[in-house]
Amino acid sequence: MRLENKIAIITGAASGMGEAMAYTFAEQGAKIVATDIQTEKLNVLVATIKAKGGEIIGIKHDVSYRKEWFENVIPETLSAFEKIDILINNAGISISHQFEEQNEDIWAKAYHINMNSVMLGMQAVLPHMKSKGGSIVNISSIAALTGMAGPGVYTATKGGVSAITRAAAVDFGAFGIRVNAINPGYILTPMSEPHLSNQQYKDYLFGVIPLKAYGLAQDIANAALFLASDESRYITGINLPVDGGTTIM
Ligand SMILES: NC(=O)c1ccc[n+]([C@@H]2O[C@H](COP(=O)([O-])OP(=O)(O)OC[C@H]3O[C@@H](n4cnc5c(N)ncnc54)[C@H](O)[C@@H]3O)[C@@H](O)[C@H]2O)c1
Repeated sequence: MRLENKIAIITGAASGMGEAMAYTFAEQGAKIVATDIQTEKLNVLVATIKAKGGEIIGIKHDVSYRKEWFENVIPETLSAFEKIDILINNAGISISHQFEEQNEDIWAKAYHINMNSVMLGMQAVLPHMKSKGGSIVNISSIAALTGMAGPGVYTATKGGVSAITRAAAVDFGAFGIRVNAINPGYILTPMSEPHLSNQQYKDYLFGVIPLKAYGLAQDIANAALFLASDESRYITGINLPVDGGTTIM
């Protein structure tokens, strides 16, 4: 098992990539702390993993609030499992407003959920990883790596996630804490499906995705498993595109 005896906090675990990571990590022996604002879906995840013999707790958690990280997520994790080895900062929202429609309120919301949350999560786990090391994986986007029409604020927040990943990797390296980012391309999840299933858009995208297919949440979970595990012990500070080759076009 690739994550035996590892304790992993996964945010946004009720849906899409976070859900796939929770199942994958549990199958590989990790004990899971699954957090999300969607409690009903979170409860289903927790019950399903427990039924399969896995160890998991679910925590209602809005990633944009410092208090919830420090007063709920960390104490509940330590009380259940005594340590923290892995943090996956995955929760995020997409912004559908076109650039000219975006205002300060939309920017503030995207900033708090997509970017500030990553800083809060890393700050919260740091004291508990410093003495023994750990692995942090931040879910960014190919929007951080390429020009992308439309969602300027989304692009800005993901650019911030990719940049803070590099900075934190430098800061935390001496403690044996690795910090990496994954940059998903066009991945079918509840967030993206309504958009990606549009036939015209699909025809256009398959023209710019070398592998001529959308990715699946499991593709991101597989990459996160590698970066979370000791197999990637000498890798830190990278932004790993998982995008069917989109960013090389
Ligand atoms: N789907 C894609 O094509 C794609 C591409 C690039 C990046 N991403 C990123 O991948 C990550 C996962 O997205 P997904 O596609 O699985 O989407 P999803 O909507 O299926 O899952 C996101 C989860 O985050 C949770 N969430 C939203 N706001 C939250 C908050 N304030 N606090 C806690 N949880 C919150 C949602 O409840 C949901 O369960 C996001 O950061 C997203 O920006 C997705």
